[in-house]
Amino acid sequence: MKTVSFTKMSDGTAEDYKFLADHEAEYAKELPNRIMDALAGLKNSLAGYKVDRLEHSLQTATRAERDGADIDWIVSALVHDIGDDLAPFNHDSLASNILKPYVRDECSWTVQHHGIFQYKYFADKVGLDAEARQKFADHEHFDAAVRFCECWDQTSFDPEYETFDLEHFRPMVEQVFTREAWATT
Ligand SMILES: [Fe+2]
Ligand SMILES: [Fe+2]
Repeated sequence: MKTVSFTKMSDGTAEDYKFLADHEAEYAKELPNRIMDALAGLKNSLAGYKVDRLEHSLQTATRAERDGADIDWIVSALVHDIGDDLAPFNHDSLASNILKPYVRDECSWTVQHHGIFQYKYFADKVGLDAEARQKFADHEHFDAAVRFCECWDQTSFDPEYETFDLEHFRPMVEQVFTREAWATT
């Protein structure tokens, strides 16, 4: 396999960096497959709920789709907890940063803050502030985040709910994660 000429970046040539840019562009095309693999991995993630994290993610996205939400919302719902394994204390930010180059701000902002918006449903039972979301009350995407959590996220822990399977969402994942990065900003 061809590689660059340098062992420290400061020695790289224009040819080296052209080679790397081309290589990275090709690698980025495979992002949808890596997203799908990471979602499949949620099957063996955080336990304790009545559904595993993959099922929760599928259920959240299925509810979004059945509510008539657009592709940005459906894919955002699908990946909103993809950071559970690697970022247990800021999983919302990790997922949001994956989405940001590809979906509109309304969706990535909601995913970024869904953790604190979810406090509404349990924080009073663990000694935290259920109304912590109110610090964002004047934000333009506040209502969108409320709806995301109320209608799709907090309610998607039901083993009896009929979800679409992961492959159902592959075309949407492919469409979103092959968009031109940052074209929506
Ligand atoms: Fe979450
Ligand atoms: Fe969730």
